[in-house]
Amino acid sequence: MQGKLYANDLFPIGTIDHRISSSLAEHMGRSIYGGIYDPDNPLSDSDGFRKDVIKAVQELNVPMIRYPGGNFVSSYHWEDGIGPKKQRPQKVDLAWQSIESNQFGLDEFMKWAEKAHSSAMMAVNLGTRGIEDACNLLEYCNLDTNTYWANKRRENGHAAPYHIKTWCLGNEMDAPWQIGHKTAHEYGELVNETAKAMRSLDPQIETVVCGSSNEHTPIFGKWETEVLDECYDNVDYISMHQYYELPSKGTMHHIAKSIRMDRFINSVVALCDAVKATKKSSKSLNISFDEWNVWYHSNEHDKNIKPWQQAPHRLEDVYNFEDALLIGSSLITLLKHVDRVRIACFAQLVNVIAPILTTETGLIKQTIFFPLRDVAKYGYGETLQTSVQSPTYKAPEFGDVNYLDSVIIKNDEGAYTVFAVNRSETETMDLNVNINDNQTLHETSHQSYSCSNPDFKNTAEQSVTEEIVEDTNGITLKPFSWNVITFQA
Ligand code: AHR
Repeated sequence: MQGKLYANDLFPIGTIDHRISSSLAEHMGRSIYGGIYDPDNPLSDSDGFRKDVIKAVQELNVPMIRYPGGNFVSSYHWEDGIGPKKQRPQKVDLAWQSIESNQFGLDEFMKWAEKAHSSAMMAVNLGTRGIEDACNLLEYCNLDTNTYWANKRRENGHAAPYHIKTWCLGNEMDAPWQIGHKTAHEYGELVNETAKAMRSLDPQIETVVCGSSNEHTPIFGKWETEVLDECYDNVDYISMHQYYELPSKGTMHHIAKSIRMDRFINSVVALCDAVKATKKSSKSLNISFDEWNVWYHSNEHDKNIKPWQQAPHRLEDVYNFEDALLIGSSLITLLKHVDRVRIACFAQLVNVIAPILTTETGLIKQTIFFPLRDVAKYGYGETLQTSVQSPTYKAPEFGDVNYLDSVIIKNDEGAYTVFAVNRSETETMDLNVNINDNQTLHETSHQSYSCSNPDFKNTAEQSVTEEIVEDTNGITLKPFSWNVITFQA
């Protein structure tokens, strides 16, 4: 099989914001307790943070982590998680019907994020709480004033403000399962007033308004326009969430689901721009794709979780190789939309639908870990408009699907990176890369991640390993592979 790529420096899509490699760490399941924070485990440091997890998160190169949720935030009292640990109350978490010990809270998260070489994207509770609480939290985090909450932070040992820049105004507020769910009109008004108040406290912040919880809700589209009609001028991003479901239509359909992500982004951009036009605004809203992943492997197990446990095993999906290729193609899709998608959070980071799965004695880097790590490492600079020529196959929902999925990045030093998925399960692909009308390119590396078994899962005993390919006779992509190829002009 033959595939061809064409791109030209003269036609960039946009500059890549490193924050598209962000993630989510929610208080649920074993994400925090037993994942990030495990004070009784010999693998943890003196703060109780798992050292092996910190190392793996550093390797993933995650620039920003959304915290503390997710659904959890919508009934959370952040004040319960600050100050002396012995005085912190144990509470019920309504979102996941679990017990929250509050032994890990905001200050622990900020310390952990620093150790992991990351930063925070903070979510405020607009479910059971509102403007005042959001402002108190912002004061605690960002203000240098001689006032109650800023002084509380100092008392808790943090003299300097954290200066958290990006703030999520609630979570999935359209969703019937959300604690404190609201109508679009109610939510839009609340966001507008909350964003105004927060900006008057700290004009440096940027805010994210909740878009629909997924593209299948009956009110998708109406929700975006009605909410934005209320708050357009006071917000900077709209959120998008998307989880890929059980592959009931087979592998070839599953690995093409990134086409859904592409269509979804185009729809939300169109909705934002329609509101922009009606408001005669000069401002374009950007997208924070702040939850995305495959989520189905754990569904059956999770039906039997008993309520009111502390850190139960929940949403512990064990990913297979076809998931890794779908994640690779989704990353390619995000890279192709960098003109509007400035933030994307892979959901989640540790144990809960995550690339990192911990046990008592170590951790597993799941199959999906590797494309995420590669894009965070090599996906910097500008995305070039990339024309892909490829043989196709037919898939339900998507029609003709290219076997080759790919994008070309021009890095800051004038080098090029090609990310490519060969979706064929059986055939290799000869790849021809034409940049700037056949400019001479020197291939400097080709890393390939492939597996002949779509259902292969990494375990403590065996993992798919990456290979360095020597392309002596032109570039060859192995069947069913994720590839990173770099060139020097
Ligand atoms: O990531 C798991 C959950 O999925 C989040 O809490 C919620 O925002 C979404 O529905």
